[in-house]
Amino acid sequence: MRGCRGARMVATMQNGAPKATPVDPGKPVKAPGEDSIGSGVWARVFAVLYDPFVWVGERAGLRAQREELLSHARGRTVEIGGGTGLNLPHYPNGLDELVMVEPDGAMRVRLEKRLGRSRRQAWVVDAPAERLPFADGSVDTVVSTFVLCTVDAPDLALREIARVLRPDGQLLFIEHVRSESPTLVYWQDRLAGPWRHFAAGCRCNRATAELIVTCGLELERVSEASWHAMPPIVRPLIAGRACPAKAGGQFDD
Ligand SMILES: C[S@@+](CC[C@H](N)C(=O)[O-])C[C@H]1O[C@@H](n2cnc3c(N)ncnc32)[C@H](O)[C@@H]1O
Repeated sequence: MRGCRGARMVATMQNGAPKATPVDPGKPVKAPGEDSIGSGVWARVFAVLYDPFVWVGERAGLRAQREELLSHARGRTVEIGGGTGLNLPHYPNGLDELVMVEPDGAMRVRLEKRLGRSRRQAWVVDAPAERLPFADGSVDTVVSTFVLCTVDAPDLALREIARVLRPDGQLLFIEHVRSESPTLVYWQDRLAGPWRHFAAGCRCNRATAELIVTCGLELERVSEASWHAMPPIVRPLIAGRACPAKAGGQFDD
């Protein structure tokens, strides 16, 4: 896997290549003693329930939004928090490489199964978005769909994304976000705790667009949408593309 700085047992190639286990004594993906997320019972149950839970939303428009977004993927592509692999059918042919990063073991099992049933070739890597095992400026496209709501340190994850992207690279995203409606924000804040427990760490009230621009990326194209047929607290969506900020760009003449 080109430029992959993984650690212990981090990657398996699915379809068309022997299973590989790149080992690099350099930067560890997890700190010593740190467990994979998703080791709890509920995380395993959530991984089983995930596809049925989002199924109606996928049918009600999200699948088409994934397809539109991912038609813009190009070159060496890294998807963070690949989950059960719902994006896999939508990637265009002809990518240089596809790497699916997923730190949750239960999700990864499902991702590998879906990949095995598809004709797509991809690496599956066990790593958190906050510590991506890729060299600086080595990735053309990073994909994040419904992940920046869940990562524990979204600022670190976004800085990692900015670090690994080439200067002309892109982050393609669909994320549910903090509402602009005071009524809905009230409920997002009130229900943030229970929702986080139910949805395996997801924060329904996170202001992700604002985070993206404070962490070394520039929003180039962003549209607002709705995650139809899902609970109102996760309905407000943003989708689009962000690029590495040009150094000092906003102050240029
Ligand atoms: C709501 S699911 C979204 C799955 C998939 N991206 C999709 O669009 O259906 C959130 C995913 O983020 C993953 N995740 C959680 N914390 C993460 C982290 N720190 N780095 C990368 N992925 C993480 C979870 O394991 C889970 O697979």
